[in-house]
Amino acid sequence: MPGTPAVELRHVSLAFERPVLRDVALTVATGETVAVLGESGTGKSTLLKLVLGLLDPDAGEVRVHGDVVNTMKQADRLALRRGIGMVFQGAALFDSLTVHENVAFALREHLRLAEDEIATRVHEALRLVDLDPAQVADQLPAQLSGGMRKRVGVARAIAHRPALLLYDEPTAGLDPLTTETVVALIARLQRELRVTSLVVSHDVRAMLRLADRLALLHDGTFAFVGDAESMRASDEAYTRTFLAAA
Ligand SMILES: Nc1ncnc2c1ncn2[C@@H]1O[C@H](COP(=O)(O)OP(=O)(O)OP(=O)(O)O)[C@@H](O)[C@H]1O
Ligand SMILES: [Mg+2]
Repeated sequence: MPGTPAVELRHVSLAFERPVLRDVALTVATGETVAVLGESGTGKSTLLKLVLGLLDPDAGEVRVHGDVVNTMKQADRLALRRGIGMVFQGAALFDSLTVHENVAFALREHLRLAEDEIATRVHEALRLVDLDPAQVADQLPAQLSGGMRKRVGVARAIAHRPALLLYDEPTAGLDPLTTETVVALIARLQRELRVTSLVVSHDVRAMLRLADRLALLHDGTFAFVGDAESMRASDEAYTRTFLAAA
């Protein structure tokens, strides 16, 4: 449905031992790249788990493409995840599987495809992240650099051609140049695949370059939501502190 946001959080609250999210609202328009920023432990990964339907809020509503996720039956949640690509914090590749098998894993999980179609899709996904299939397909994750492992993680997330991509700390642990190439890759995928991207990160410098809009999580709520220009110009106290520390 045109105009329906890709992701919407409405009055979302969630507590574990302590409150993590308190009456949070967030909208990600279709085709948009939104970055959720915040210090360690503020609830960024938790927010992605809500979108994936792996966790339910104590109160409020989580919607993906207009459908309420937090009241869905398990079968519908599995169907929902077929339309989502997740790039995990750290590369989270299977160490004992080759690059080819790591990328094929998501395809086997989500779709019933013939082996030759799987091979075609794996090669296509690897090329999209600038990896040469002939060179890397039979390698093990341990044989790759950190940046290449990150690319394989992205290839795995896009192989089943999801409309929505979720990234958890895509630049963590990468050197500045590799960070730059990963940011450029996320931007290019958004353009070429016309996907919606929700990125959670503490890397404010990288996200200021990448995101259409940024949302800064602090103390269970968003201290700031807006574009890079208005974030740099914001006089909200925590936003200024967060930017100054970057
Ligand atoms: N399943 C759980 N049970 C209990 N507490 C949890 C659970 N998951 C997360 N938490 C707590 O919720 C808070 C937010 O965790 P979360 O992993 O979302 O933070 P984060 O912003 O992703 O942090 P980081 O930047 O370190 O990845 C933390 O205090 C964490 O300890
Ligand atoms: Mg996290």
